[in-house]
Formats: sequence, structure tokens, C-alpha cells
Amino acid sequence: MKLNRITSTSLLLLAAGLMTSLPTLSQERPYTIKNGNQLDADSYNGFKLYRNWCARCHGTYGQGLAGPDLAKSLNNITRDEFMKTVAQGKAGSIGSMPAWQSNAAVMQGREQIYSYLKARANGDLGPIKPELSK
Ligand code: HEC
Repeated sequence: MKLNRITSTSLLLLAAGLMTSLPTLSQERPYTIKNGNQLDADSYNGFKLYRNWCARCHGTYGQGLAGPDLAKSLNNITRDEFMKTVAQGKAGSIGSMPAWQSNAAVMQGREQIYSYLKARANGDLGPIKPELSK
């Protein structure tokens, strides 16, 4: 009886340990999506911010225009690099992007924009108009 309790406790701990380590093993998914285009409120807001501030250079759904295809970029850069690039801007071989650090809407919504673009980068959301999940 006592041994059983210890065994099940350690199994529980093992399961909890596996669950917390999963996000680092699998692709990062800071969003939820239903029916192929229905996003949670945060990442949907990310799409709206993206559309307002980023789409004119990076394409309506992130597929690239004057600026690079962010659905690809987000598989190559880390979350920290993304946050830093958005805040400080970037000048490189493709062109130059302004810094956004004085734009409060973008700065406060950076995580949400990241979530939306991660859904695009992982292929869970295609180059289509997302909707707010109900
Ligand atoms: C005026 C045009 C313009 C706007 C608006 C713009 N970008 Fe950019 N962005 C660029 C260009 C050009 C580059 C490529 C710079 C280079 O490496 O040559 C870039 C690069 C980036 C990169 C780096 C990609 C990589 O692979 O390293 C990220 C991330 C990014 N932009 C995010 C954003 C986000 C988020 C917004 C909206 C808040 C935004 N950009 C708005 C033009 C723009």
C-alpha cells in the first residue's frame, strides 16, 4: 500500500516533468488555432497589429514584399532576436526596417505579433485571413 503510493507519486512527478519539458522539445506554439483559421484573442490581435504596422512591407499575411517572408524568418530567428529586431530595426542586404521602440502599440503587442507569425511559420495558419475564435 505504502509502496504503491510512492510509486504513483513518482509517476506523477515524472509525468509533470515530461509535460514541462515538452514545449522545448516540440515546435513553439504560443497560440491556439481551430478550423484552420480561428485564432485565440491574443494572436488574433497580433494579426491586427501586424496588418496595421508590418503588412505594407512584409506582405498581407507575412509572405514577404519589400521586407523578407516572416513566415520563413520565424523558423530561423529566436524569440529574443525577433523582439530585439522589432525594437531596434534592421538594416541589411534586403533593405532597412525602422525601429519600433517609440511605437507603444507595436511594443506592447510584440508578443502577440510573434504569436500570430509563429502560427504562420509553423504552417498551422496559411496565407489566409484569420478570424477570432469564438
Ligand atoms: C518600411 C518597411 C518595413 C516595415 C513597415 C516593417 N519591416 Fe520588418 N523588415 C523590413 C526590411 C527591409 C527587413 C530586412 C532587413 C535586412 O535584413 O536587410 C525587415 C526585417 C525584419 C525582421 C528580421 C527578419 C530576419 O529574417 O532576420 C523582422 C523580425 C521584422 N522585419 C519584423 C517586422 C515587424 C514585426 C514589423 C511590424 C511591427 C515590421 N517588420 C515592419 C522592412 C519593414
